[in-house]
Amino acid sequence: MSSFKPQFFLIFFVLFSLQTACRSTETFNITRPKHKWVGPSGNLTIHVDLHGSGDFKSVQAAVDSIPNYNQKNVLIKIAAGCYIEKVVVPASKPYITFQGAGRDRTAIEWHDRASDRGPDGQQLRTYQTASVTVFASYFSAKNISFKNTAPAPMPGLEGWQAAAFRISGDKAFFSGCGFYGAQDTLCDDAGRHYFKDCYIEGSIDFIFGNGRSMYKDCQLHSIATRFGSIAAQDRNCPDEKTGFAFVHCRVTGTGPLYVGRAMGQYSRIVFSYTYFASIVARGGWDDWDHASNKNKTAFFGVYKCYGPGAAAVSGASWARELDYETAHPFLAKSFVNGRHWIAPTDA
Ligand SMILES: *[C@@H]1O[C@H](CO)[C@@H](O)[C@H](O)[C@H]1NC(C)=O
Ligand SMILES: *[C@@H]1O[C@H](CO)[C@@H](O)[C@H](O)[C@H]1NC(C)=O
Ligand SMILES: *[C@@H]1O[C@H](CO)[C@@H](O)[C@H](O)[C@H]1NC(C)=O
Ligand SMILES: *[C@@H]1O[C@H](CO)[C@@H](O)[C@H](O)[C@H]1NC(C)=O
Repeated sequence: MSSFKPQFFLIFFVLFSLQTACRSTETFNITRPKHKWVGPSGNLTIHVDLHGSGDFKSVQAAVDSIPNYNQKNVLIKIAAGCYIEKVVVPASKPYITFQGAGRDRTAIEWHDRASDRGPDGQQLRTYQTASVTVFASYFSAKNISFKNTAPAPMPGLEGWQAAAFRISGDKAFFSGCGFYGAQDTLCDDAGRHYFKDCYIEGSIDFIFGNGRSMYKDCQLHSIATRFGSIAAQDRNCPDEKTGFAFVHCRVTGTGPLYVGRAMGQYSRIVFSYTYFASIVARGGWDDWDHASNKNKTAFFGVYKCYGPGAAAVSGASWARELDYETAHPFLAKSFVNGRHWIAPTDA
């Protein structure tokens, strides 16, 4: 599991334990707190194969086989094939990696829409539609695709939000992954996340949520037919550290589209060194509801972007062309505190 190098943690953990141990033995007899963070120890590899030559035929069965409060690095190798199932990784199962045989060879897909009814008869709503949902920390995925195959909505239809993936766990790492859907493809819900060399496709708000995330060397591909938008970020107060930082990405596909929308009052979205095809709508950015003056509190910026659509992105009166000083925090993995959990070779 290259995104997570146990030796980094070991150092921190050892220093931390030494400190507390020295103090505590002198003064009081502590029992180790139950929820104190302890790094994973040991490795476990599980093979999933649709055709039966692995340990399990479905990804969920493999996840279910891992005990709660898992302490091992668990690598779930998923053989080539299309796994038609809805998958949930609960918060009690950290340190899991999904590794496919290639973004074009292994996929997990489902087809729920926001207006579909769940087992309780209620509408699912957007966040429950994800084909794969991860609540656990230290999740990673490599060389695999996640899809929501519900048909793309016609413009103006309600209830067609259909997420392919929802990440609600902290310190998640993705490389070489594909995310396919239309409206609301990738729910970047909460926590620190790093997406490297990923392909993300959709039409409306196809990356959305209140995550604190860096997207590096990713392709953002619009399939919008009348009007679309890439990112809707939901930061809601000025002291939250969340936001979406896109670095060295490529924006392609069909338009016209907004590159960012102020889902939250204090939305933060920065594009740096990013290529824009000529599909960006005039003005580039959107206020979401046009009544709450988000243009005064949202932070939208661009830094050294290029391509035929780049002028429209920096053309909005409330999106700024940043100077190096201001752009700097959004350019490196320190934006997601990556030094402590992303290996140098992975960033
Ligand atoms: C510390 O507390 C544990 C549990 O209460 C007890 O079993 C143990 O004997 C104590 N150790 C010392 C050194 O007091
Ligand atoms: C677990 O895997 C890592 C890297 O893949 C390796 O360095 C480590 O020695 C392994 N640990 C065990 C207990 O097998
Ligand atoms: C993922 O795919 C890339 C490109 O095909 C390859 O270089 C890399 O080794 C793969 N990684 C894993 C963990 O399979
Ligand atoms: C900000 O939004 C308000 C309300 O929609 C609008 O009146 C104003 O012109 C906008 N300002 C800018 C700079 O876009």
